[in-house]
Amino acid sequence: MIARPASALVTGGGTGIGRRITERLVQDGYFVTIMGRREEPLLDTQRLLGDKVSTAVGSVTNEADVALAVEQASARAPLTVAVLAAGTGGRHAKLASTPLRSWRRVLSTNLDGAFLTLRATAERIAQNGGGSIVAISSIAATRPHHGMAAYAISKAALEALVANGANELGEQGVRVNAIRAGIVDTDMTAGLYGNGGFVARQLSETPVGRLGAAKDLAEAVSFLVSPAASWITGVCLAVDGGNHLRGTVQVNVPPQLGGGTDTQPPGLDEGRMLVGPDNGGVSEPPCPATVAQTP
Ligand SMILES: NC(=O)c1ccc[n+]([C@@H]2O[C@H](COP(=O)([O-])OP(=O)(O)OC[C@H]3O[C@@H](n4cnc5c(N)ncnc54)[C@H](OP(=O)(O)O)[C@@H]3O)[C@@H](O)[C@H]2O)c1
Repeated sequence: MIARPASALVTGGGTGIGRRITERLVQDGYFVTIMGRREEPLLDTQRLLGDKVSTAVGSVTNEADVALAVEQASARAPLTVAVLAAGTGGRHAKLASTPLRSWRRVLSTNLDGAFLTLRATAERIAQNGGGSIVAISSIAATRPHHGMAAYAISKAALEALVANGANELGEQGVRVNAIRAGIVDTDMTAGLYGNGGFVARQLSETPVGRLGAAKDLAEAVSFLVSPAASWITGVCLAVDGGNHLRGTVQVNVPPQLGGGTDTQPPGLDEGRMLVGPDNGGVSEPPCPATVAQTP
């Protein structure tokens, strides 16, 4: 439990990993402001977790929205924690045929959004006597993932943002770290979990012998923002059951989605990692995606 009243801002806090992080930070005693573009999941989360949670509707890609979220987060107690969890999986396509629009959308959300949030919160956290910023990176940051180059590159850049932020902000009492998350079941990855064979292969590549959950990531965030981690900054902590020690479960790019146009295939949610004949309810044209193993 925290020693005195303090606030946290969690971008992407209305769903998935961000929601579990919010739940954990509320248990730790924080007032938590959650930010996202859709009001409904934010309000659902608030209903679920109670009145220590407040909501800020807006996009992390918009400076004014981020500034308002920081004000909202500062209203009830000094802001000392920011968690950069807003992100998008992007369109599943080979690098050479990724449309510029899709590339920009992923980089804009995952990198620009994290930069804007870090920039807006770091100063405030420093004014409040110091605290901690945690970005949610991915195992994709360090290893190529078929069909997810823009996403992987955005996360690699996010980790560079964390290193540079940690280097510059340490003297002001602001620690900056990342969780390098393994794959867990959320809206973003629902298509993977529906893909026959994915779960078995993922398990065989995970030394601890179980799939991870958003809760595992939330526990790690709780540690990194706590005084127990007060001498830790600039790290990208792998929280993946040891998956980084073994292979990456790859999902091959369906050829129909690699065509290089800016037209989204009907029914395909660009924010999701998919994809396969059984894609967890996302309806797009049939495609021969398969799960393959790389060393
Ligand atoms: N699931 C995994 O296996 C996994 C693994 C490694 C890393 N991650 C990372 O974990 C983070 C959370 O992902 P998740 O798996 O929990 O998926 P998710 O449930 O789809 O969460 C993504 C969140 O980001 C928000 N968001 C997206 N674009 C935004 C924008 N422009 N402005 C503000 N909020 C925005 C979404 O809300 P709105 O749509 O309402 O804006 C949503 O709440 C992401 O950064 C993802 O890259 C996930």
